Amino acid sequence: MSKGTYYITTPIYYPSSKLHIGHTYTTVAADAMARFKRATGYDVKFLTGTDEHGQKLQRAAEEKGLQPKEYIDGIVEGIKKLWETMEISYDIFIRTTDDYHKRRVQEIFKKLYEKGDIYKGEYEGWYCTPCEAFWTETQVTEGKCPDCGRPVELTKEESYFFRLSKYQDPLLKYFEENPEFLEPVSRKNEMINNFLKPGLEDLCISRTSFNWGIPVPIDEKHVIYVWLDALSNYITALGYPEDQEGDYRKYWPADVHLVGKEIVRFHTIIWPAMLMALEIPLPKKVFGHGWILLEGGKMSKSKGNVVDPVVLSERYGVDALKYFLLREYSFGQDGVFTNEVLLNRINSDLANDLGNLVSRTVAMIDKYNGGIIPEPKVDGEFDEDLKHIAVSVSTKLEEKMNKLDFSNALEEIWKLVRRTNKYIDETAPWVLAKDDANKGRLDTVLYNLADCIRMISVLIQPFMHSTTRKIWIQLGIDHGQGTEWNDTFHFGKLPAGIKVNKQEPLFPRIDIAKELEALAAASGVKEEEQPKEEKPIEIKPEILYDDFAKLDLRVGEVLECKKHGKADKLLVLQVKIGSETRQIVSGIAKHFKPEELVGKKVIVVVNLKPVVLRGEESRGMILSAESGEKLSLVTADAESGAEVR
Ligand code: MSP
Repeated sequence: MSKGTYYITTPIYYPSSKLHIGHTYTTVAADAMARFKRATGYDVKFLTGTDEHGQKLQRAAEEKGLQPKEYIDGIVEGIKKLWETMEISYDIFIRTTDDYHKRRVQEIFKKLYEKGDIYKGEYEGWYCTPCEAFWTETQVTEGKCPDCGRPVELTKEESYFFRLSKYQDPLLKYFEENPEFLEPVSRKNEMINNFLKPGLEDLCISRTSFNWGIPVPIDEKHVIYVWLDALSNYITALGYPEDQEGDYRKYWPADVHLVGKEIVRFHTIIWPAMLMALEIPLPKKVFGHGWILLEGGKMSKSKGNVVDPVVLSERYGVDALKYFLLREYSFGQDGVFTNEVLLNRINSDLANDLGNLVSRTVAMIDKYNGGIIPEPKVDGEFDEDLKHIAVSVSTKLEEKMNKLDFSNALEEIWKLVRRTNKYIDETAPWVLAKDDANKGRLDTVLYNLADCIRMISVLIQPFMHSTTRKIWIQLGIDHGQGTEWNDTFHFGKLPAGIKVNKQEPLFPRIDIAKELEALAAASGVKEEEQPKEEKPIEIKPEILYDDFAKLDLRVGEVLECKKHGKADKLLVLQVKIGSETRQIVSGIAKHFKPEELVGKKVIVVVNLKPVVLRGEESRGMILSAESGEKLSLVTADAESGAEVR
């Protein structure tokens, strides 16, 4: 009988042929959770898919000279194949270009409009195309997106707005009353203090400057903002709003949305506000996991380490890769990936601990009992301790899994793996085998070892189910022979009298030095030369000379410079431009001391509309060049006021 339903989702992925192991992290975790819940008796729905609309994709398709759908279809096939390779057990794969999704998103839009939560206005502000995110003047520093640091674009267009501000207080109240809604706690504090408390502005939810999106049903020259479209997938996939009786009724609200930390804001502010406006329940939990980084910063397929999940799973097996991802990193926190960390983890936990345990046990059953699992006969020292640990793993594992603490859940299983290995050393079967008088005791030791392996094989099934099957083949067992989840709570469920089958090691030991070289060759970069990265530069759309000529760039001499009283990142400069001296506020305090700048001849955009930044007026912008963490000012050896062309 089912223990109830469990609805788990990953984010829907932007179609990209460059998905790396960081991307697979959310999906691997969701898969383990879905399999765990199925194994423990739940009726599970596991959703994943692709997020296929928006300006970014339209531009990418244009660059290839293709229609967006034409461009995307092949990539989506590749993503589905990747999930097949990684043995991801999703139940639904949604594409936001699916007709049913488009229709249902339009219905959602209409519902919000009819309720009065959507109105027409004009948007003027900043847009980050890579993140598909709107930002206000105060959120943007020096023309850069506060999330990804790439340049934002000034956008001005007729738009529809969602009354997000109306939901500020209900959201704050919801966060207070539901402390487990957003985890880990650090992300909850960030949302409350950085976004909810300072105040929410209404959200622009339609665009007219491009057309790759779902048309606004009441005004077809607009397309619906890609995040409104994408977030809705969690309910359109279940039938909402057309069919509220089937899966929607059964599975909504979701038990958990798993998302990377950078998209927590969309999932815990915009999404719940939309649901409140639709008057339907909120997901029970959003978990914002950390990022897997490379030593040089963000993960990317162009860097030195092999981060291609297909390459890595071909070399070491899908199960090893999944195990590594979930065991090595603490789910809520960032972690660093290197080839070395991966190989060490595989060798120590999989080749040595688990692989050796299975090989040694099967070999001893072969050697000392003709390959037949014996009946246990004579109990002895160490048995009680071993059994006590073995039967207590499942409860601890369930506890950890229900907290989405994958790493410690696996550690609970490995405590038993290590304890069982220790039992071999303690009981020394090769010594017992020397004297026939010890045969009864030897049989018990061999049985206990095999039964612990049976328990381990069932416990690891949510994380590495192919390894489970391989172990069953070695033990000679199949479904129904102590292989149900409930059987992990009991010792002695392995039938005696079965013949074992010695096979190749589960995880061959890796020669790390050799393999590091091979990996470096595979990535085209020598290990010691990493991780210098040549970033592909993102060039903005072409402009006409007339557009460029609108900029008035001048040489300015810095006369005075001081720290901004209210903002750590800002400096306030007095800059002489020809006969005029004007004040400019610049976000460069992290890079320069005020006194270093006095006397410098910098380049200033002098016809930029003045803005007030934390109470100080800024009339112009100083140009700088940024590479990684380093920032240098663009300077000129010319008279102040000289025109720059
Ligand atoms: N399309 C949006 C999600 C819309 S959901 C309504 C999106 N897509 S994504 O393809 O950019 O990211 C998919 C998932 O991969 C996110 O959870 C993201 O955090 C995760 N990761 C991408 N790079 C990652 C790492 N380097 N490390 C861990 N997870 C990372 O965002």
